[in-house]
Amino acid sequence: MMKAIVVTDQAAGRAGMKLVEHPEPQGAQLAGLSGANYGDVVVQVHASGFTWDELSWPSTWVDRLGRDRTPSIPGHELAGVVTALSYGTTGLSVGQRVFGLTDWTRDGTLAEYVAVEARNLAPLPGDVDFTVGASVVMPGLTAWQGLFDHGHLRAGQSILVHGAAGVVGSMVTQFAREAGAYVIGTGRAPGRQTALEFGAMEFIDLDKDTLEDVGAVDLVFDVLGGEIGKRSARLIRAGGTLVSIVGPPEARPADGLTVDFVVVPDRAQLSEVVQRVRDGRLRTNIGNVAALDDAVAAFNPTERVKGKTIIRVRP
Ligand SMILES: NC(=O)c1ccc[n+]([C@@H]2O[C@H](COP(=O)([O-])OP(=O)(O)OC[C@H]3O[C@@H](n4cnc5c(N)ncnc54)[C@H](OP(=O)(O)O)[C@@H]3O)[C@@H](O)[C@H]2O)c1
Repeated sequence: MMKAIVVTDQAAGRAGMKLVEHPEPQGAQLAGLSGANYGDVVVQVHASGFTWDELSWPSTWVDRLGRDRTPSIPGHELAGVVTALSYGTTGLSVGQRVFGLTDWTRDGTLAEYVAVEARNLAPLPGDVDFTVGASVVMPGLTAWQGLFDHGHLRAGQSILVHGAAGVVGSMVTQFAREAGAYVIGTGRAPGRQTALEFGAMEFIDLDKDTLEDVGAVDLVFDVLGGEIGKRSARLIRAGGTLVSIVGPPEARPADGLTVDFVVVPDRAQLSEVVQRVRDGRLRTNIGNVAALDDAVAAFNPTERVKGKTIIRVRP
């Protein structure tokens, strides 16, 4: 058995998270049993990340065939060490440090061990701490995919990054600057300094400034949606793109594209992200680090936590 956080009651939300003893996923010789499949490795989790609205997604509650999968272990970002290999795993070995994003429809990473498809993981270099590794997985991949796979950002273009002081927005800001774009960040007044420190060249306080004053931009990276998303669509130049990570945009640019997407695992992109952490081009945005025993409290905070919450499963 292992320690894990589970959820069983969808209506209870994060308050329904419980720390329990749960069966460990098994490795190679038990492929297909106990939660490990062909292509899986078992990872001893050192650090785990959780996305705040995960418990509202169907994938937390049912598997790909729509069958109830409770009790379900949330958290799908991790850094840890491979402890077992199933059949069909390539590129990884027992004892290797790894990090990555696990399948939304399977048991996750708020646990001492997790079975993960090998292709969802990348090697974590020895000089990158597990906490840092886990913290860049989801925001790093989301930012990279939104900017380059979907937004096709190029040097010299201008980009409006909503929520630029937030977990995803701060990554988007850094990658966009490195790519040679002109970056305008948005958010609330307390986020101004943070956004500028992450590399935004201008900041729009959405409570006070007029969004339309930014003029035309080539790309909008929207983490807010709603009315802000709608108004942003009108700012996009001909041939530009509105990329949303909060569902389908309610408005389209007159002469441009809209894309909404959900982040997917990608080994090569994880390696790009971690290389930037190592050489100082990318800073992570961690707000709180807590032990697994304190994870339920960490995900039910009495005050808003800015930055990523990471659960350090092994000290
Ligand atoms: N599609 C995907 O694959 C994907 C992947 C990752 C995340 N997401 C989603 O993306 C969203 C953002 O995630 P995150 O982790 O970056 O959140 P976050 O860290 O809370 O960042 C949001 C930022 O936007 C600011 N903000 C929020 N509402 C605002 C408003 N009305 N006016 C001005 N500023 C506002 C926040 O400021 P304060 O801190 O002051 O509130 C914060 O700086 C979430 O809904 C998340 O579920 C989607």
